[in-house]
Amino acid sequence: MTRGEAWLSHSATALVGGTGLVYGWMCYFAESDDPYAITNHAWQPDLQHLHILLAPLLVFSCALFWRDHVWKRVRAGFAIRRSTGLVLFGVFVPMIVSGYVVQTASSEWSRTAAVWTHGVSSLLWIVAYVVHQISRRRARG
Ligand code: HEM
Ligand code: HEM
Repeated sequence: MTRGEAWLSHSATALVGGTGLVYGWMCYFAESDDPYAITNHAWQPDLQHLHILLAPLLVFSCALFWRDHVWKRVRAGFAIRRSTGLVLFGVFVPMIVSGYVVQTASSEWSRTAAVWTHGVSSLLWIVAYVVHQISRRRARG
């Protein structure tokens, strides 16, 4: 992985994860003072738009190193940073697909399932991503 690819990846997770966390807080925890408000926070629609517009950056950044960094190491049984690497590998597709199903779901139960899948997989992504970066680089010894 080149320096540029690594920094694009860090930026994408910070921007998409950051907008997602703030948007989630606005959706589920913020309370409006205005009893007639249709959103919990005045910036909620802006955060939603930012999150959706930035999301492809995360997909694109991973695509850049998918074959040489991710898939090659998954297949080869590469041991270093493997557990967090496998979590990232495993939640990547559910996180992306569920994000779009949140928008396109046509029944209440499928929307609820998508929101839960997106929430859990996205939080796992953020935690695994941070731990993946701070784990040891080489085998000890
Ligand atoms: C990296 C961590 C991420 C976090 C913390 C996060 C968080 C969230 C949250 C809280 C929602 C609102 C769900 C709801 O309506 O209840 C959401 C919606 C959404 N997310 Fe993410 N997300 C992340 C990554 C992604 C990625 C990688 C994609 C796609 C490539 C994505 C695409 C979407 C889309 C399309 C929506 C629907 C927006 C809407 O209509 O409300 N998200 N996300
Ligand atoms: C979607 C999955 C993955 C993502 C997004 C990801 C992302 C990253 C990033 C951004 C770095 C920092 C690179 C740098 O600073 O040069 C890194 C380093 C590293 N990752 Fe991953 N990784 C993933 C999967 C894996 C897997 C499956 C393994 C091993 C089985 C792994 C092992 C490592 C190791 C050993 C390093 C240390 C530096 C290096 O050798 O490149 N990663 N990863």
